[in-house]
Amino acid sequence: MTKHFTQTLLGTDPVIAEALENERNRQQEQIELIASENIVSRSVLDALGHEVVNKTLEGYPGNRFHGGGCFVDVMEQMAIDRARKLFGCTYVNVQPHSGSQANLAVFYLLLQPGDKVLSLDLAAGGHLSHGLKANLSGRWFDAHHYGVDPLSEQIDYDKLEQQALELRPKLIIAGGSAYPREIDFKRMRQIADRVEAWFHVDMAHIAGLVAGGVHPSPFPHADIVTCTTTKTLRGPRGGLILTNREEWFKKLDSAVFPGVQGSIHTQVIAAKAVCLGEALSEDFRRYAVQVRSNASRLAAVLGERGLRIVSGGTDTHLVLVDLSPKGITGKQAETVLEKAGITANKNAIPNDSPRPPEWVGLRLGAGAATTRGMKEREFGLLGEMIADLVEAEAGGKSGAVVERCKTLVSKLCAEFPVYRP
Ligand SMILES: Cc1ncc(COP(=O)(O)O)c(C=O)c1O
Repeated sequence: MTKHFTQTLLGTDPVIAEALENERNRQQEQIELIASENIVSRSVLDALGHEVVNKTLEGYPGNRFHGGGCFVDVMEQMAIDRARKLFGCTYVNVQPHSGSQANLAVFYLLLQPGDKVLSLDLAAGGHLSHGLKANLSGRWFDAHHYGVDPLSEQIDYDKLEQQALELRPKLIIAGGSAYPREIDFKRMRQIADRVEAWFHVDMAHIAGLVAGGVHPSPFPHADIVTCTTTKTLRGPRGGLILTNREEWFKKLDSAVFPGVQGSIHTQVIAAKAVCLGEALSEDFRRYAVQVRSNASRLAAVLGERGLRIVSGGTDTHLVLVDLSPKGITGKQAETVLEKAGITANKNAIPNDSPRPPEWVGLRLGAGAATTRGMKEREFGLLGEMIADLVEAEAGGKSGAVVERCKTLVSKLCAEFPVYRP
């Protein structure tokens, strides 16, 4: 046997082996509150690191452009069947390499360059693949955005309807990456019907909550749904496209391949099947309930400690904090939290500066730490620590608070280990 098959990474590439080990330790030693992250199961990792990665395949189960696909066919069909059952729909495409690719395939299916799209504004919590000028979706399509009500900071559906009536878009998109409240899919469907637009829901962030039954499903209201399998769904990096519109089944297959992609990521298809199987379990439903409850606890403690929570709370896994009353930026908060071992990210809030370094939002999510087993008690402690760290940073003297929080973070991490005891 050639050494190609026997040498370990540590032996062949110590630089990368060390960086990987450091990343593994970081995940154990820090508490992850980035809302788009989660911690996949050992089973999902097994699938991702499997020799199936060697297989090249284009096409769909039973109809491939290469030989030797019979086992991957089993995996892909299983992923499709599980996702159908999980989300209660008739068509699922499990091939998109990412959420952005899934959205691009929807644009490819439904729009011609220059067509009008109406989606949630990025500063109100939207996503760049929904028409940001710097993204292909905004460069090739005529993207317009709806925002949130200035007082409630929640989607103003009456205003959205007015905008849709004036604009007459071909596609209306719901969903985003920093919108913490439940979305009224039924109302948005009615608006789309009034203007004869297609209605697309990108449930990337909330897919796990929908799967777990703690957020309303976009079905039967949406014409088409996309999501990532990362985030609350707790799977590998990748996307899904779902619909019940039979006339699109074949066209969607072609929109993904060869429309916007080539061969599939076979190891990811296997991992998607595993994660979708997990999401069908009773355990996952309990997980989704706990995620919501933990996020609510976090928002409540932060609010009690005098931090302003955008929209006044959360219905999801996500909490958005407005730091402007404290006089610090999201970047400053992100940095001081990381010094203490808590990872989160700066984010725009409604009407924020267009310049990321000036953003005053801090986005927090409960998905990953809940996977570690943390519950309301720990999320209460996290809320207290975050409030202390923000106060200390605002006061210009964070050193002692950072040290105190670091110790508590280490204790929590030891109590809730990741992958190994
Ligand atoms: C709403 C939404 N759609 C799409 C995406 C893009 O997913 P990906 O990073 O896999 O392209 C994200 C990722 O954060 C998202 O939040």
